[in-house]
Amino acid sequence: MRKFAPSSPAGSMNSEAIATAEYEFISRLVYDQSRINLGPDKTELVSARVRKRLRALGLDDFESYCELLRSPAGKAELPSLLDVISTNVTDFFREQPHFDYLQSVVLPEWETHARHNQDKSFRAWSAACSSGEEPYSLAILFDDFFQRHPSITWSLLASDISTRVLKAAAEGVYLQDRIKLPRPEWLGTYFQKGLGKWDGYARVKSHIRKHVQFRHLNFVKWPQEGLEVYQVIFCRNVMIYFDRQTQEELTGRLASRLTPGGFLFVGHSESLLRLGHGLRSVRPSIYQKL
Ligand SMILES: C[S@@+](CC[C@H](N)C(=O)[O-])C[C@H]1O[C@@H](n2cnc3c(N)ncnc32)[C@H](O)[C@@H]1O
Repeated sequence: MRKFAPSSPAGSMNSEAIATAEYEFISRLVYDQSRINLGPDKTELVSARVRKRLRALGLDDFESYCELLRSPAGKAELPSLLDVISTNVTDFFREQPHFDYLQSVVLPEWETHARHNQDKSFRAWSAACSSGEEPYSLAILFDDFFQRHPSITWSLLASDISTRVLKAAAEGVYLQDRIKLPRPEWLGTYFQKGLGKWDGYARVKSHIRKHVQFRHLNFVKWPQEGLEVYQVIFCRNVMIYFDRQTQEELTGRLASRLTPGGFLFVGHSESLLRLGHGLRSVRPSIYQKL
């Protein structure tokens, strides 16, 4: 692994906290680009995260970084800024009751319905997929269920604003200790254990990876094309970073991409405040389009 060589001596500007003017400039820019609402009190977090960009670019202080962002070259720096600012915490089968509900209610009911229906393709979207644990958990569940129903085809879209996590997600390589599965035998069925320098890691097998299409998608720049309608959308643990108006707008847009009877899952701590958009609550943090 490459060793990090500091661009400036220890104790230089690099370790100082960000000044108010620079903090306000960066948090406004982040809000405009992503709707991530940093608020007034995240100076330590922003200092620590943006410092990574100072080191990578060999800049001495936050002022120089803001100058770069204001310059014509600033546009090219934006993806890297959003990469360091976004919080990407995730896990396999995080918030297990959502997966239990899919397995015990959503998939069997949809399969029964599909038997009498022309449309035999099941489509799900993991919006804000981070490094891939969420879409691969869904893919494992779908594979396990639909292998008993070979007339069904299924596919998954996985998207995120961060290009860094999307790259990791597409590779599908994880520390084995971090792969917690509801059924231990799924480790052998769905993961290839690494050897040599990859000892301790495991990669999602290709027959699962090939079902998942990864795509860069920023909720703020909602695409006009390329989205289908989905029977299931997971948009979990990202609404908490948005203000109320953005949450409302996003919920409406997601609802418009659901099939009638389709389900929207949000994070357990993110219940939608005001329901509209043709959604009804079926469980805490699970909504169905009427
Ligand atoms: C905490 S992770 C949640 C991952 C996963 N959904 C879960 O619940 O485990 C939040 C993700 O939302 C993404 N995100 C933040 N703002 C976004 C935006 N405007 N558009 C799309 N994704 C965004 C971040 O890059 C990050 O990967």
